[in-house]
Amino acid sequence: MPLKLAILISGRGSNMQAIHRSIVAGKLDAEISVVISDQAAAAGLAYAQAEGILTQLVERQKGEDRDGFDRRLIAKLEESSPQIVVLAGYMRILSPTFIRHFEHRIVNIHPSLLPSFPGLHAQRQALEAGVRFSGCTVHFVDEGCDTGPIIDQRVVAVLPEDDEGSLSKRILEQEHQLYSSCLQMIAEGKLKVEGRKVILL
Ligand code: GRF
Repeated sequence: MPLKLAILISGRGSNMQAIHRSIVAGKLDAEISVVISDQAAAAGLAYAQAEGILTQLVERQKGEDRDGFDRRLIAKLEESSPQIVVLAGYMRILSPTFIRHFEHRIVNIHPSLLPSFPGLHAQRQALEAGVRFSGCTVHFVDEGCDTGPIIDQRVVAVLPEDDEGSLSKRILEQEHQLYSSCLQMIAEGKLKVEGRKVILL
């Protein structure tokens, strides 16, 4: 049975597209049950719709707190019973309620070699720190910011002539490969979380 994914986006959705392309190419044994965005203008929604993927918009309502919003999001997600919730450029911080509901079943991609440079503008942080190598990380999500157990990483060289745009572009190319490869490991049942670590079975 293909692994059932629900993908959360807020914008461009290029990682979501790369995952979809891997599925279509037969490289990832998964299916996308739903793509949910918290932003009506997210470009990724149009791609998903054009590909015949179910899409949903779950926008924050006026005065709604994080917990209330996440409870609605959980309900919407559960309509398609996903096995894994994939964060792909989803820009909202998830509540403990959400994280506990899907414990060890939420994955995220981050454009740095964690634990270096968590949070926003990771590529800019890497350039400002003068590191020679950066990259990307796929990890299970815990209650911290980009702190959960690491599944896998890809290294990208930082070149002397790099600016934020050029470095982000080279890291993104690796993100697109890494995410599908990590999801395939999950689909094959090869990963086990033990405390802070992900063990490869
Ligand atoms: C990626 O760089 C990802 O690592 C970060 O947000 C960006 C999303 O890009 N979490 P996209 O929406 O998948 O194109």
